[in-house]
Amino acid sequence: MNSDAAILNALRNAPSVSGAELSSRLGVTRAAIWARIEELRRLGYDIEATPHSGYRLLACPDRLHADDLVSRLGLVRVIGREIHVFQETTSTNDVLEKMARDGVREGVVVFAETQTRGRGRLGRQWVSPPGQGLWFSILLRPRLRPQAVTRLTVAAATALARALRLQVPLQPEIKWPNDLLIRGRKIAGVLTELSGELDSVRHVILGIGINVNVAPEELPPAVRATATSLRAELGRRVDRPALAAALLRELDTDYARVLDDCFDAVADEWSAQCTTLGRHLAVSAGPRRIVGRAEALDDEGALLVRTEHGLLERVVGGDVTLEK
Ligand code: BTN
Repeated sequence: MNSDAAILNALRNAPSVSGAELSSRLGVTRAAIWARIEELRRLGYDIEATPHSGYRLLACPDRLHADDLVSRLGLVRVIGREIHVFQETTSTNDVLEKMARDGVREGVVVFAETQTRGRGRLGRQWVSPPGQGLWFSILLRPRLRPQAVTRLTVAAATALARALRLQVPLQPEIKWPNDLLIRGRKIAGVLTELSGELDSVRHVILGIGINVNVAPEELPPAVRATATSLRAELGRRVDRPALAAALLRELDTDYARVLDDCFDAVADEWSAQCTTLGRHLAVSAGPRRIVGRAEALDDEGALLVRTEHGLLERVVGGDVTLEK
């Protein structure tokens, strides 16, 4: 943790902390602490300073700040041990792809307050208005066969659903493989991009988009009938930095479960919230169109669909349309 993260961490864990205490904990002068406090104030952190009790954190701004996210997150195994925040990028997946090629370690997370070329699955555009959502990407270097990478998408959707349930009074449903819905409308999606050879994975980038405080009228007209935001569902704004930290914590937990061969437990949790299982659906995967009943998830995260001819088809990706 750097000094800003350590200061925010200390202020969050006690009603107030003196300058002397901070300077001894961080091993810097009280003047240096004062300079960091001034900088945090400039960024919008409301920090009160009194001669008797020291510093008190009164309020945090609605902005993503890497040190703040690190301080909220605490100890993680992999995901979030390094965080970068950009005000604007093309796509956080592209930024991280470049960092991955430069050799950064797994677990690095890149957030952007806005993306000018955010993308969704199947080449779709992902609209990312400034300061209204959580648009971020995670770099993973798992020892998995490429066929098993669907497990990561399933784990990500499971972790996102759990984090949302913990943070807001809503019950998200999962639509296979990667959509999170609330009352049947999409609130979040995961774009999994894999780099590797036929038989080995070099790295995986999980790109995650969550419509947090997007106002209903800011949703693109084309998706207004099928998409929603937490703000639209709750009728109030949601604390984005707190939600971001909760999401990373749950993602870190479920990534560990996949690596520790506990995918069955993830799959069970996923199934319990998945509205796709048992439903009649059509999946378009390139030139293929499979129509049938979603029967189960296999041990690599693929969807098993029983067709009207009684065949069990294995689907690893595609566009799913649920039938009534
Ligand atoms: C989907 O449901 O189609 C997936 C949407 C993924 C959007 C996120 S936003 C952050 C990351 N950067 C991108 O360009 N896309 C993903």
